[in-house]
Amino acid sequence: MKPEGNPLQSLDQWDDDLLRRYPKQPDANQGNTSEEFRSYDDAPDHVREFYRLNHQRQTVEINRLKREQFLPLNRRQMGIWEAMEFLNTLIDDSDPDTNLSQIEHLLQTAEAIRADGHPRWFILTGLIHDLGKILCLFDEPQWCVTGDTFVVGCRFDSSIVYHDFFQENPDNLDPVFQSELGIYTANCGLRNVMLSWGHDEYMYNVCKDYLPDEGLAMIRYHSFYPWHSEGAYRHLMDEHDHKMLEFVKLFNPYDLYSKSNDPPDVELLRPFYEDLIADFFPSKISW
Ligand SMILES: [Fe+2]
Ligand SMILES: [Fe+2]
Repeated sequence: MKPEGNPLQSLDQWDDDLLRRYPKQPDANQGNTSEEFRSYDDAPDHVREFYRLNHQRQTVEINRLKREQFLPLNRRQMGIWEAMEFLNTLIDDSDPDTNLSQIEHLLQTAEAIRADGHPRWFILTGLIHDLGKILCLFDEPQWCVTGDTFVVGCRFDSSIVYHDFFQENPDNLDPVFQSELGIYTANCGLRNVMLSWGHDEYMYNVCKDYLPDEGLAMIRYHSFYPWHSEGAYRHLMDEHDHKMLEFVKLFNPYDLYSKSNDPPDVELLRPFYEDLIADFFPSKISW
């Protein structure tokens, strides 16, 4: 039995559901957008239950509490590789033969970016983008770690998957929180809004002093599907966000489509990545 609040057998089941919703197009230049193929309604029950809990419980109040709880970053001092190994201790109930380990997903993402000749900061961004999932190892429930992110404090955008579940969210009854701008001002910039809490926002805060803005945007917004893939929240964006959106879109396919059943050789790749990490990060950082 999974504990209440953790319906997924593995965090990857949410990522797998993204693949169902955003299937890879055979040729991106050939007409059809994924919209025509997308079906939101047939996720397996445990994935639906995950979305239900996420949409019911991600409120402004929870967001403020989680920021107070985690953003002092006073839990651990760890290096990046050490954090990758720590994340790998996350034991899911999923079948170990069919699921990649967390380190393997990170390395496959980074290797796909590297193979396309992108700069070192971009490769490093791929390597670390999901390290915020260590929140699970701090006993956070799944609905507070993963899932598509969205803005809290203003109307829940209609493009958010399983929008109906917001009827169970207490903020849905608050007239201010459900106005178009909510507690924000027009074009205030996404850095000034609260995205639903999870591994993206946490990891952005962990590494914000060490990566260029483009890499930070990729990390902070990689699960923000209503924004980067559905076109929502344009009225909250400033000029900087428009530039960053291009980079977040560039990153997304590496996260979504780099998974292969051919696991990378972790020990073989390790020296390259240890050097890359050392170019940008001190030996220990605060988590
Ligand atoms: Fe992620
Ligand atoms: Fe990922």
